[in-house]
Amino acid sequence: MTESPANKIKHSIMVMSGKGGVGKTTVSVNLGLSLALYGKVVGILDADITGPNVPKMLNIEDATMTGEEDQTIHPVELPVGADGAVRVVSMAFVIGKDSPVVWRGPLKMQVLKQFIETVTWGDLDYMLIDLPPGTSDEPLSIAQLLHPDGMIIVTTPQDLALLDARKAIDMSRSLGIPVLGIVENMSGFTCPKCGKAIDIFKVGGGMKAAEELRVPFLGRIEIDPAICETGDSGKPFILNVQSKTAEAFDEIVRKIMAHYEGEKWTPEPSAK
Ligand SMILES: Nc1ncnc2c1ncn2[C@@H]1O[C@H](COP(=O)(O)OP(=O)(O)O)[C@@H](O)[C@H]1O
Ligand SMILES: [Mg+2]
Repeated sequence: MTESPANKIKHSIMVMSGKGGVGKTTVSVNLGLSLALYGKVVGILDADITGPNVPKMLNIEDATMTGEEDQTIHPVELPVGADGAVRVVSMAFVIGKDSPVVWRGPLKMQVLKQFIETVTWGDLDYMLIDLPPGTSDEPLSIAQLLHPDGMIIVTTPQDLALLDARKAIDMSRSLGIPVLGIVENMSGFTCPKCGKAIDIFKVGGGMKAAEELRVPFLGRIEIDPAICETGDSGKPFILNVQSKTAEAFDEIVRKIMAHYEGEKWTPEPSAK
């Protein structure tokens, strides 16, 4: 993978969707934390320069990335579980939480380049790249700078979202990045009172698309009010909730680890 004198990144994975609001940041953050619960050191690159949400979801938005005279930048590090960690780089640390970024493409690309090349990521087991919506410049630039070895496509189950997911898969194929699979987010809802499953946006579109497009299906995550609440309050879902939805994230990270590491890893997450 990516090697620079300071950084050894074993695997880097782009988290992409055809459109916004489908849960890319939610998936990136919670998969990152789940991996860290398995003792992994995980970088999360918030590549959404104009809408950086990763620090808010992790409740570290008041942190700052420290820098050195030689222009290197240190990520914000959050210890997780017994020996895992996430290291985060985001525009939100640079501009503060309420300032908008209204920048043209070239400037955004310049920042992404810095985030990749001048940040002291150190040794990472995984890097997750939370992309802005769509198939625009960011995935292209990151593909060139970082040569990721995986792409996760997040979609909701409606036909329109799936159409966009297809575009994302086409893009990853044209960039030569292997698709690890599709995550179907906001996939049905279990009534907390009666336990009955309700298919709000219908269910299973992601699985059907995965079959049709011949890519793996990684799993489905239900609509869960706890995800929304914890996302808004910055209490990371996966570290604070034990539920069927939390298990769904765990199943997805196990598939990711099995893909990259074979069956060598011990499938025992540390206590939350
Ligand atoms: N499975 C889910 N259940 C409930 N709310 C969710 C779920 N996934 C995401 N959300 C909420 O939907 C909103 C958009 O999610 P986000 O991850 O920011 O999407 P994106 O990064 O694709 O724009 C957030 O408020 C988030 O908390
Ligand atoms: Mg986002």
